[in-house]
Amino acid sequence: MKLIEQVAARYQQKFNRQPQFIVRAPGRVNLLGEHVDYNAGLVLPAAIDRATYIACSPAPAPHSTLWAVDYNQMATFSAQSVSAKTQADATPLPEWAFYPAGILWTLLQENLSAPAMNAVFASDVPRGAGLSSSASVELSFMLAWQTLGGWSVPPMQLALLAQKAENRYVGVNCGIMDQFAAACGVEHKALLLDCRSLEWKELALPPDVSIVVADTTIRRKLADSEYNDRRQSCEEAVRFLQKSLPHIHTLRDVRVEDFNRLSDQLPVKTERRARHVVEEIERMNQVEALLAAGDIQTFGQLMNQCQRSLRDLYAVSCPELDALVEIAQTLKGCYGARLTGAGFGGCTVNLVAAAQAEAFALTLAQKYQTQTNLQPEVYITHAARGAEVKWKSE
Ligand code: GLA
Repeated sequence: MKLIEQVAARYQQKFNRQPQFIVRAPGRVNLLGEHVDYNAGLVLPAAIDRATYIACSPAPAPHSTLWAVDYNQMATFSAQSVSAKTQADATPLPEWAFYPAGILWTLLQENLSAPAMNAVFASDVPRGAGLSSSASVELSFMLAWQTLGGWSVPPMQLALLAQKAENRYVGVNCGIMDQFAAACGVEHKALLLDCRSLEWKELALPPDVSIVVADTTIRRKLADSEYNDRRQSCEEAVRFLQKSLPHIHTLRDVRVEDFNRLSDQLPVKTERRARHVVEEIERMNQVEALLAAGDIQTFGQLMNQCQRSLRDLYAVSCPELDALVEIAQTLKGCYGARLTGAGFGGCTVNLVAAAQAEAFALTLAQKYQTQTNLQPEVYITHAARGAEVKWKSE
């Protein structure tokens, strides 16, 4: 059964009636521009055809009751209980409920109407896999409350509100990329976002190129604290560099030449991390022209360079990601392969000639399994639409 049918059927079962509407919001891959969104750089994500679906109706105030199909658990909270991160009965919220509760908390802060709801939700975005399952849950609840509340703000604004929920309520200091992609995704297009101006463009990928996602199946427990630690290193690098370059605000403002000239003033670990960011931002400056020219070969090489930099400088890869990428890069039809998202396990993204994509996926899975004894999930995906209401009752 499709996810949309599953949430509808479960809703009927749990609440004894039809839902009023069903929303969906997708996960994403990032093709290039990794760990630069919180340094005000450019990124190139695409929403994917995996998503969170919520079947939803208004409920009597004040309590929202949410069923998480994937956990087979329920949580009940209200505007009163949400800031203490507790349920209506004062027990702590389960971790999965932090995302919807964080959205409610943010909407209340912004004085946007967020009426109580009954909801059932499920997702086929794998969790902790670098495909932004959290942003997809956040944006789907954002859209559900927007629909119930009867207000309307532009998708980028929804993304910023969801980012605030993740930063301040969930406690992960993420940038804007994931929430942006989940909110603003466009079918068959990658999105080139300038994380400083928040302007973006749709960029077409050549029709004969497929996006293949491969999951190492590795999940790292400490990923959130490692992520926040990288972000602090970037801020530290800016403070050091400001002594010589007083005009800079973020690593986006630092040219590679200036960085090379001043890099010995930085502590070694900080220097390596900042170098990844400065060079990745430089790579991103080439992307628009390359894709306009259909030069997927050179674009793929930038992906491969990015992987080396994430492994050797930013230190967010792991042996299994390295193995999956190295195998991919030897296979026929592969233009470029690298880890996608924050790293520390999770998925790789591969650009592959469409005619070879099926064979590529099969061989990659086989070789990775032989080498690591792990069974990866490998699938061909395509750029999909962002958050949307999928169905409404008459
Ligand atoms: C996570 C964050 C994003 C971004 C990526 C790394 O997905 O949520 O904001 O920083 O890592 O590029």
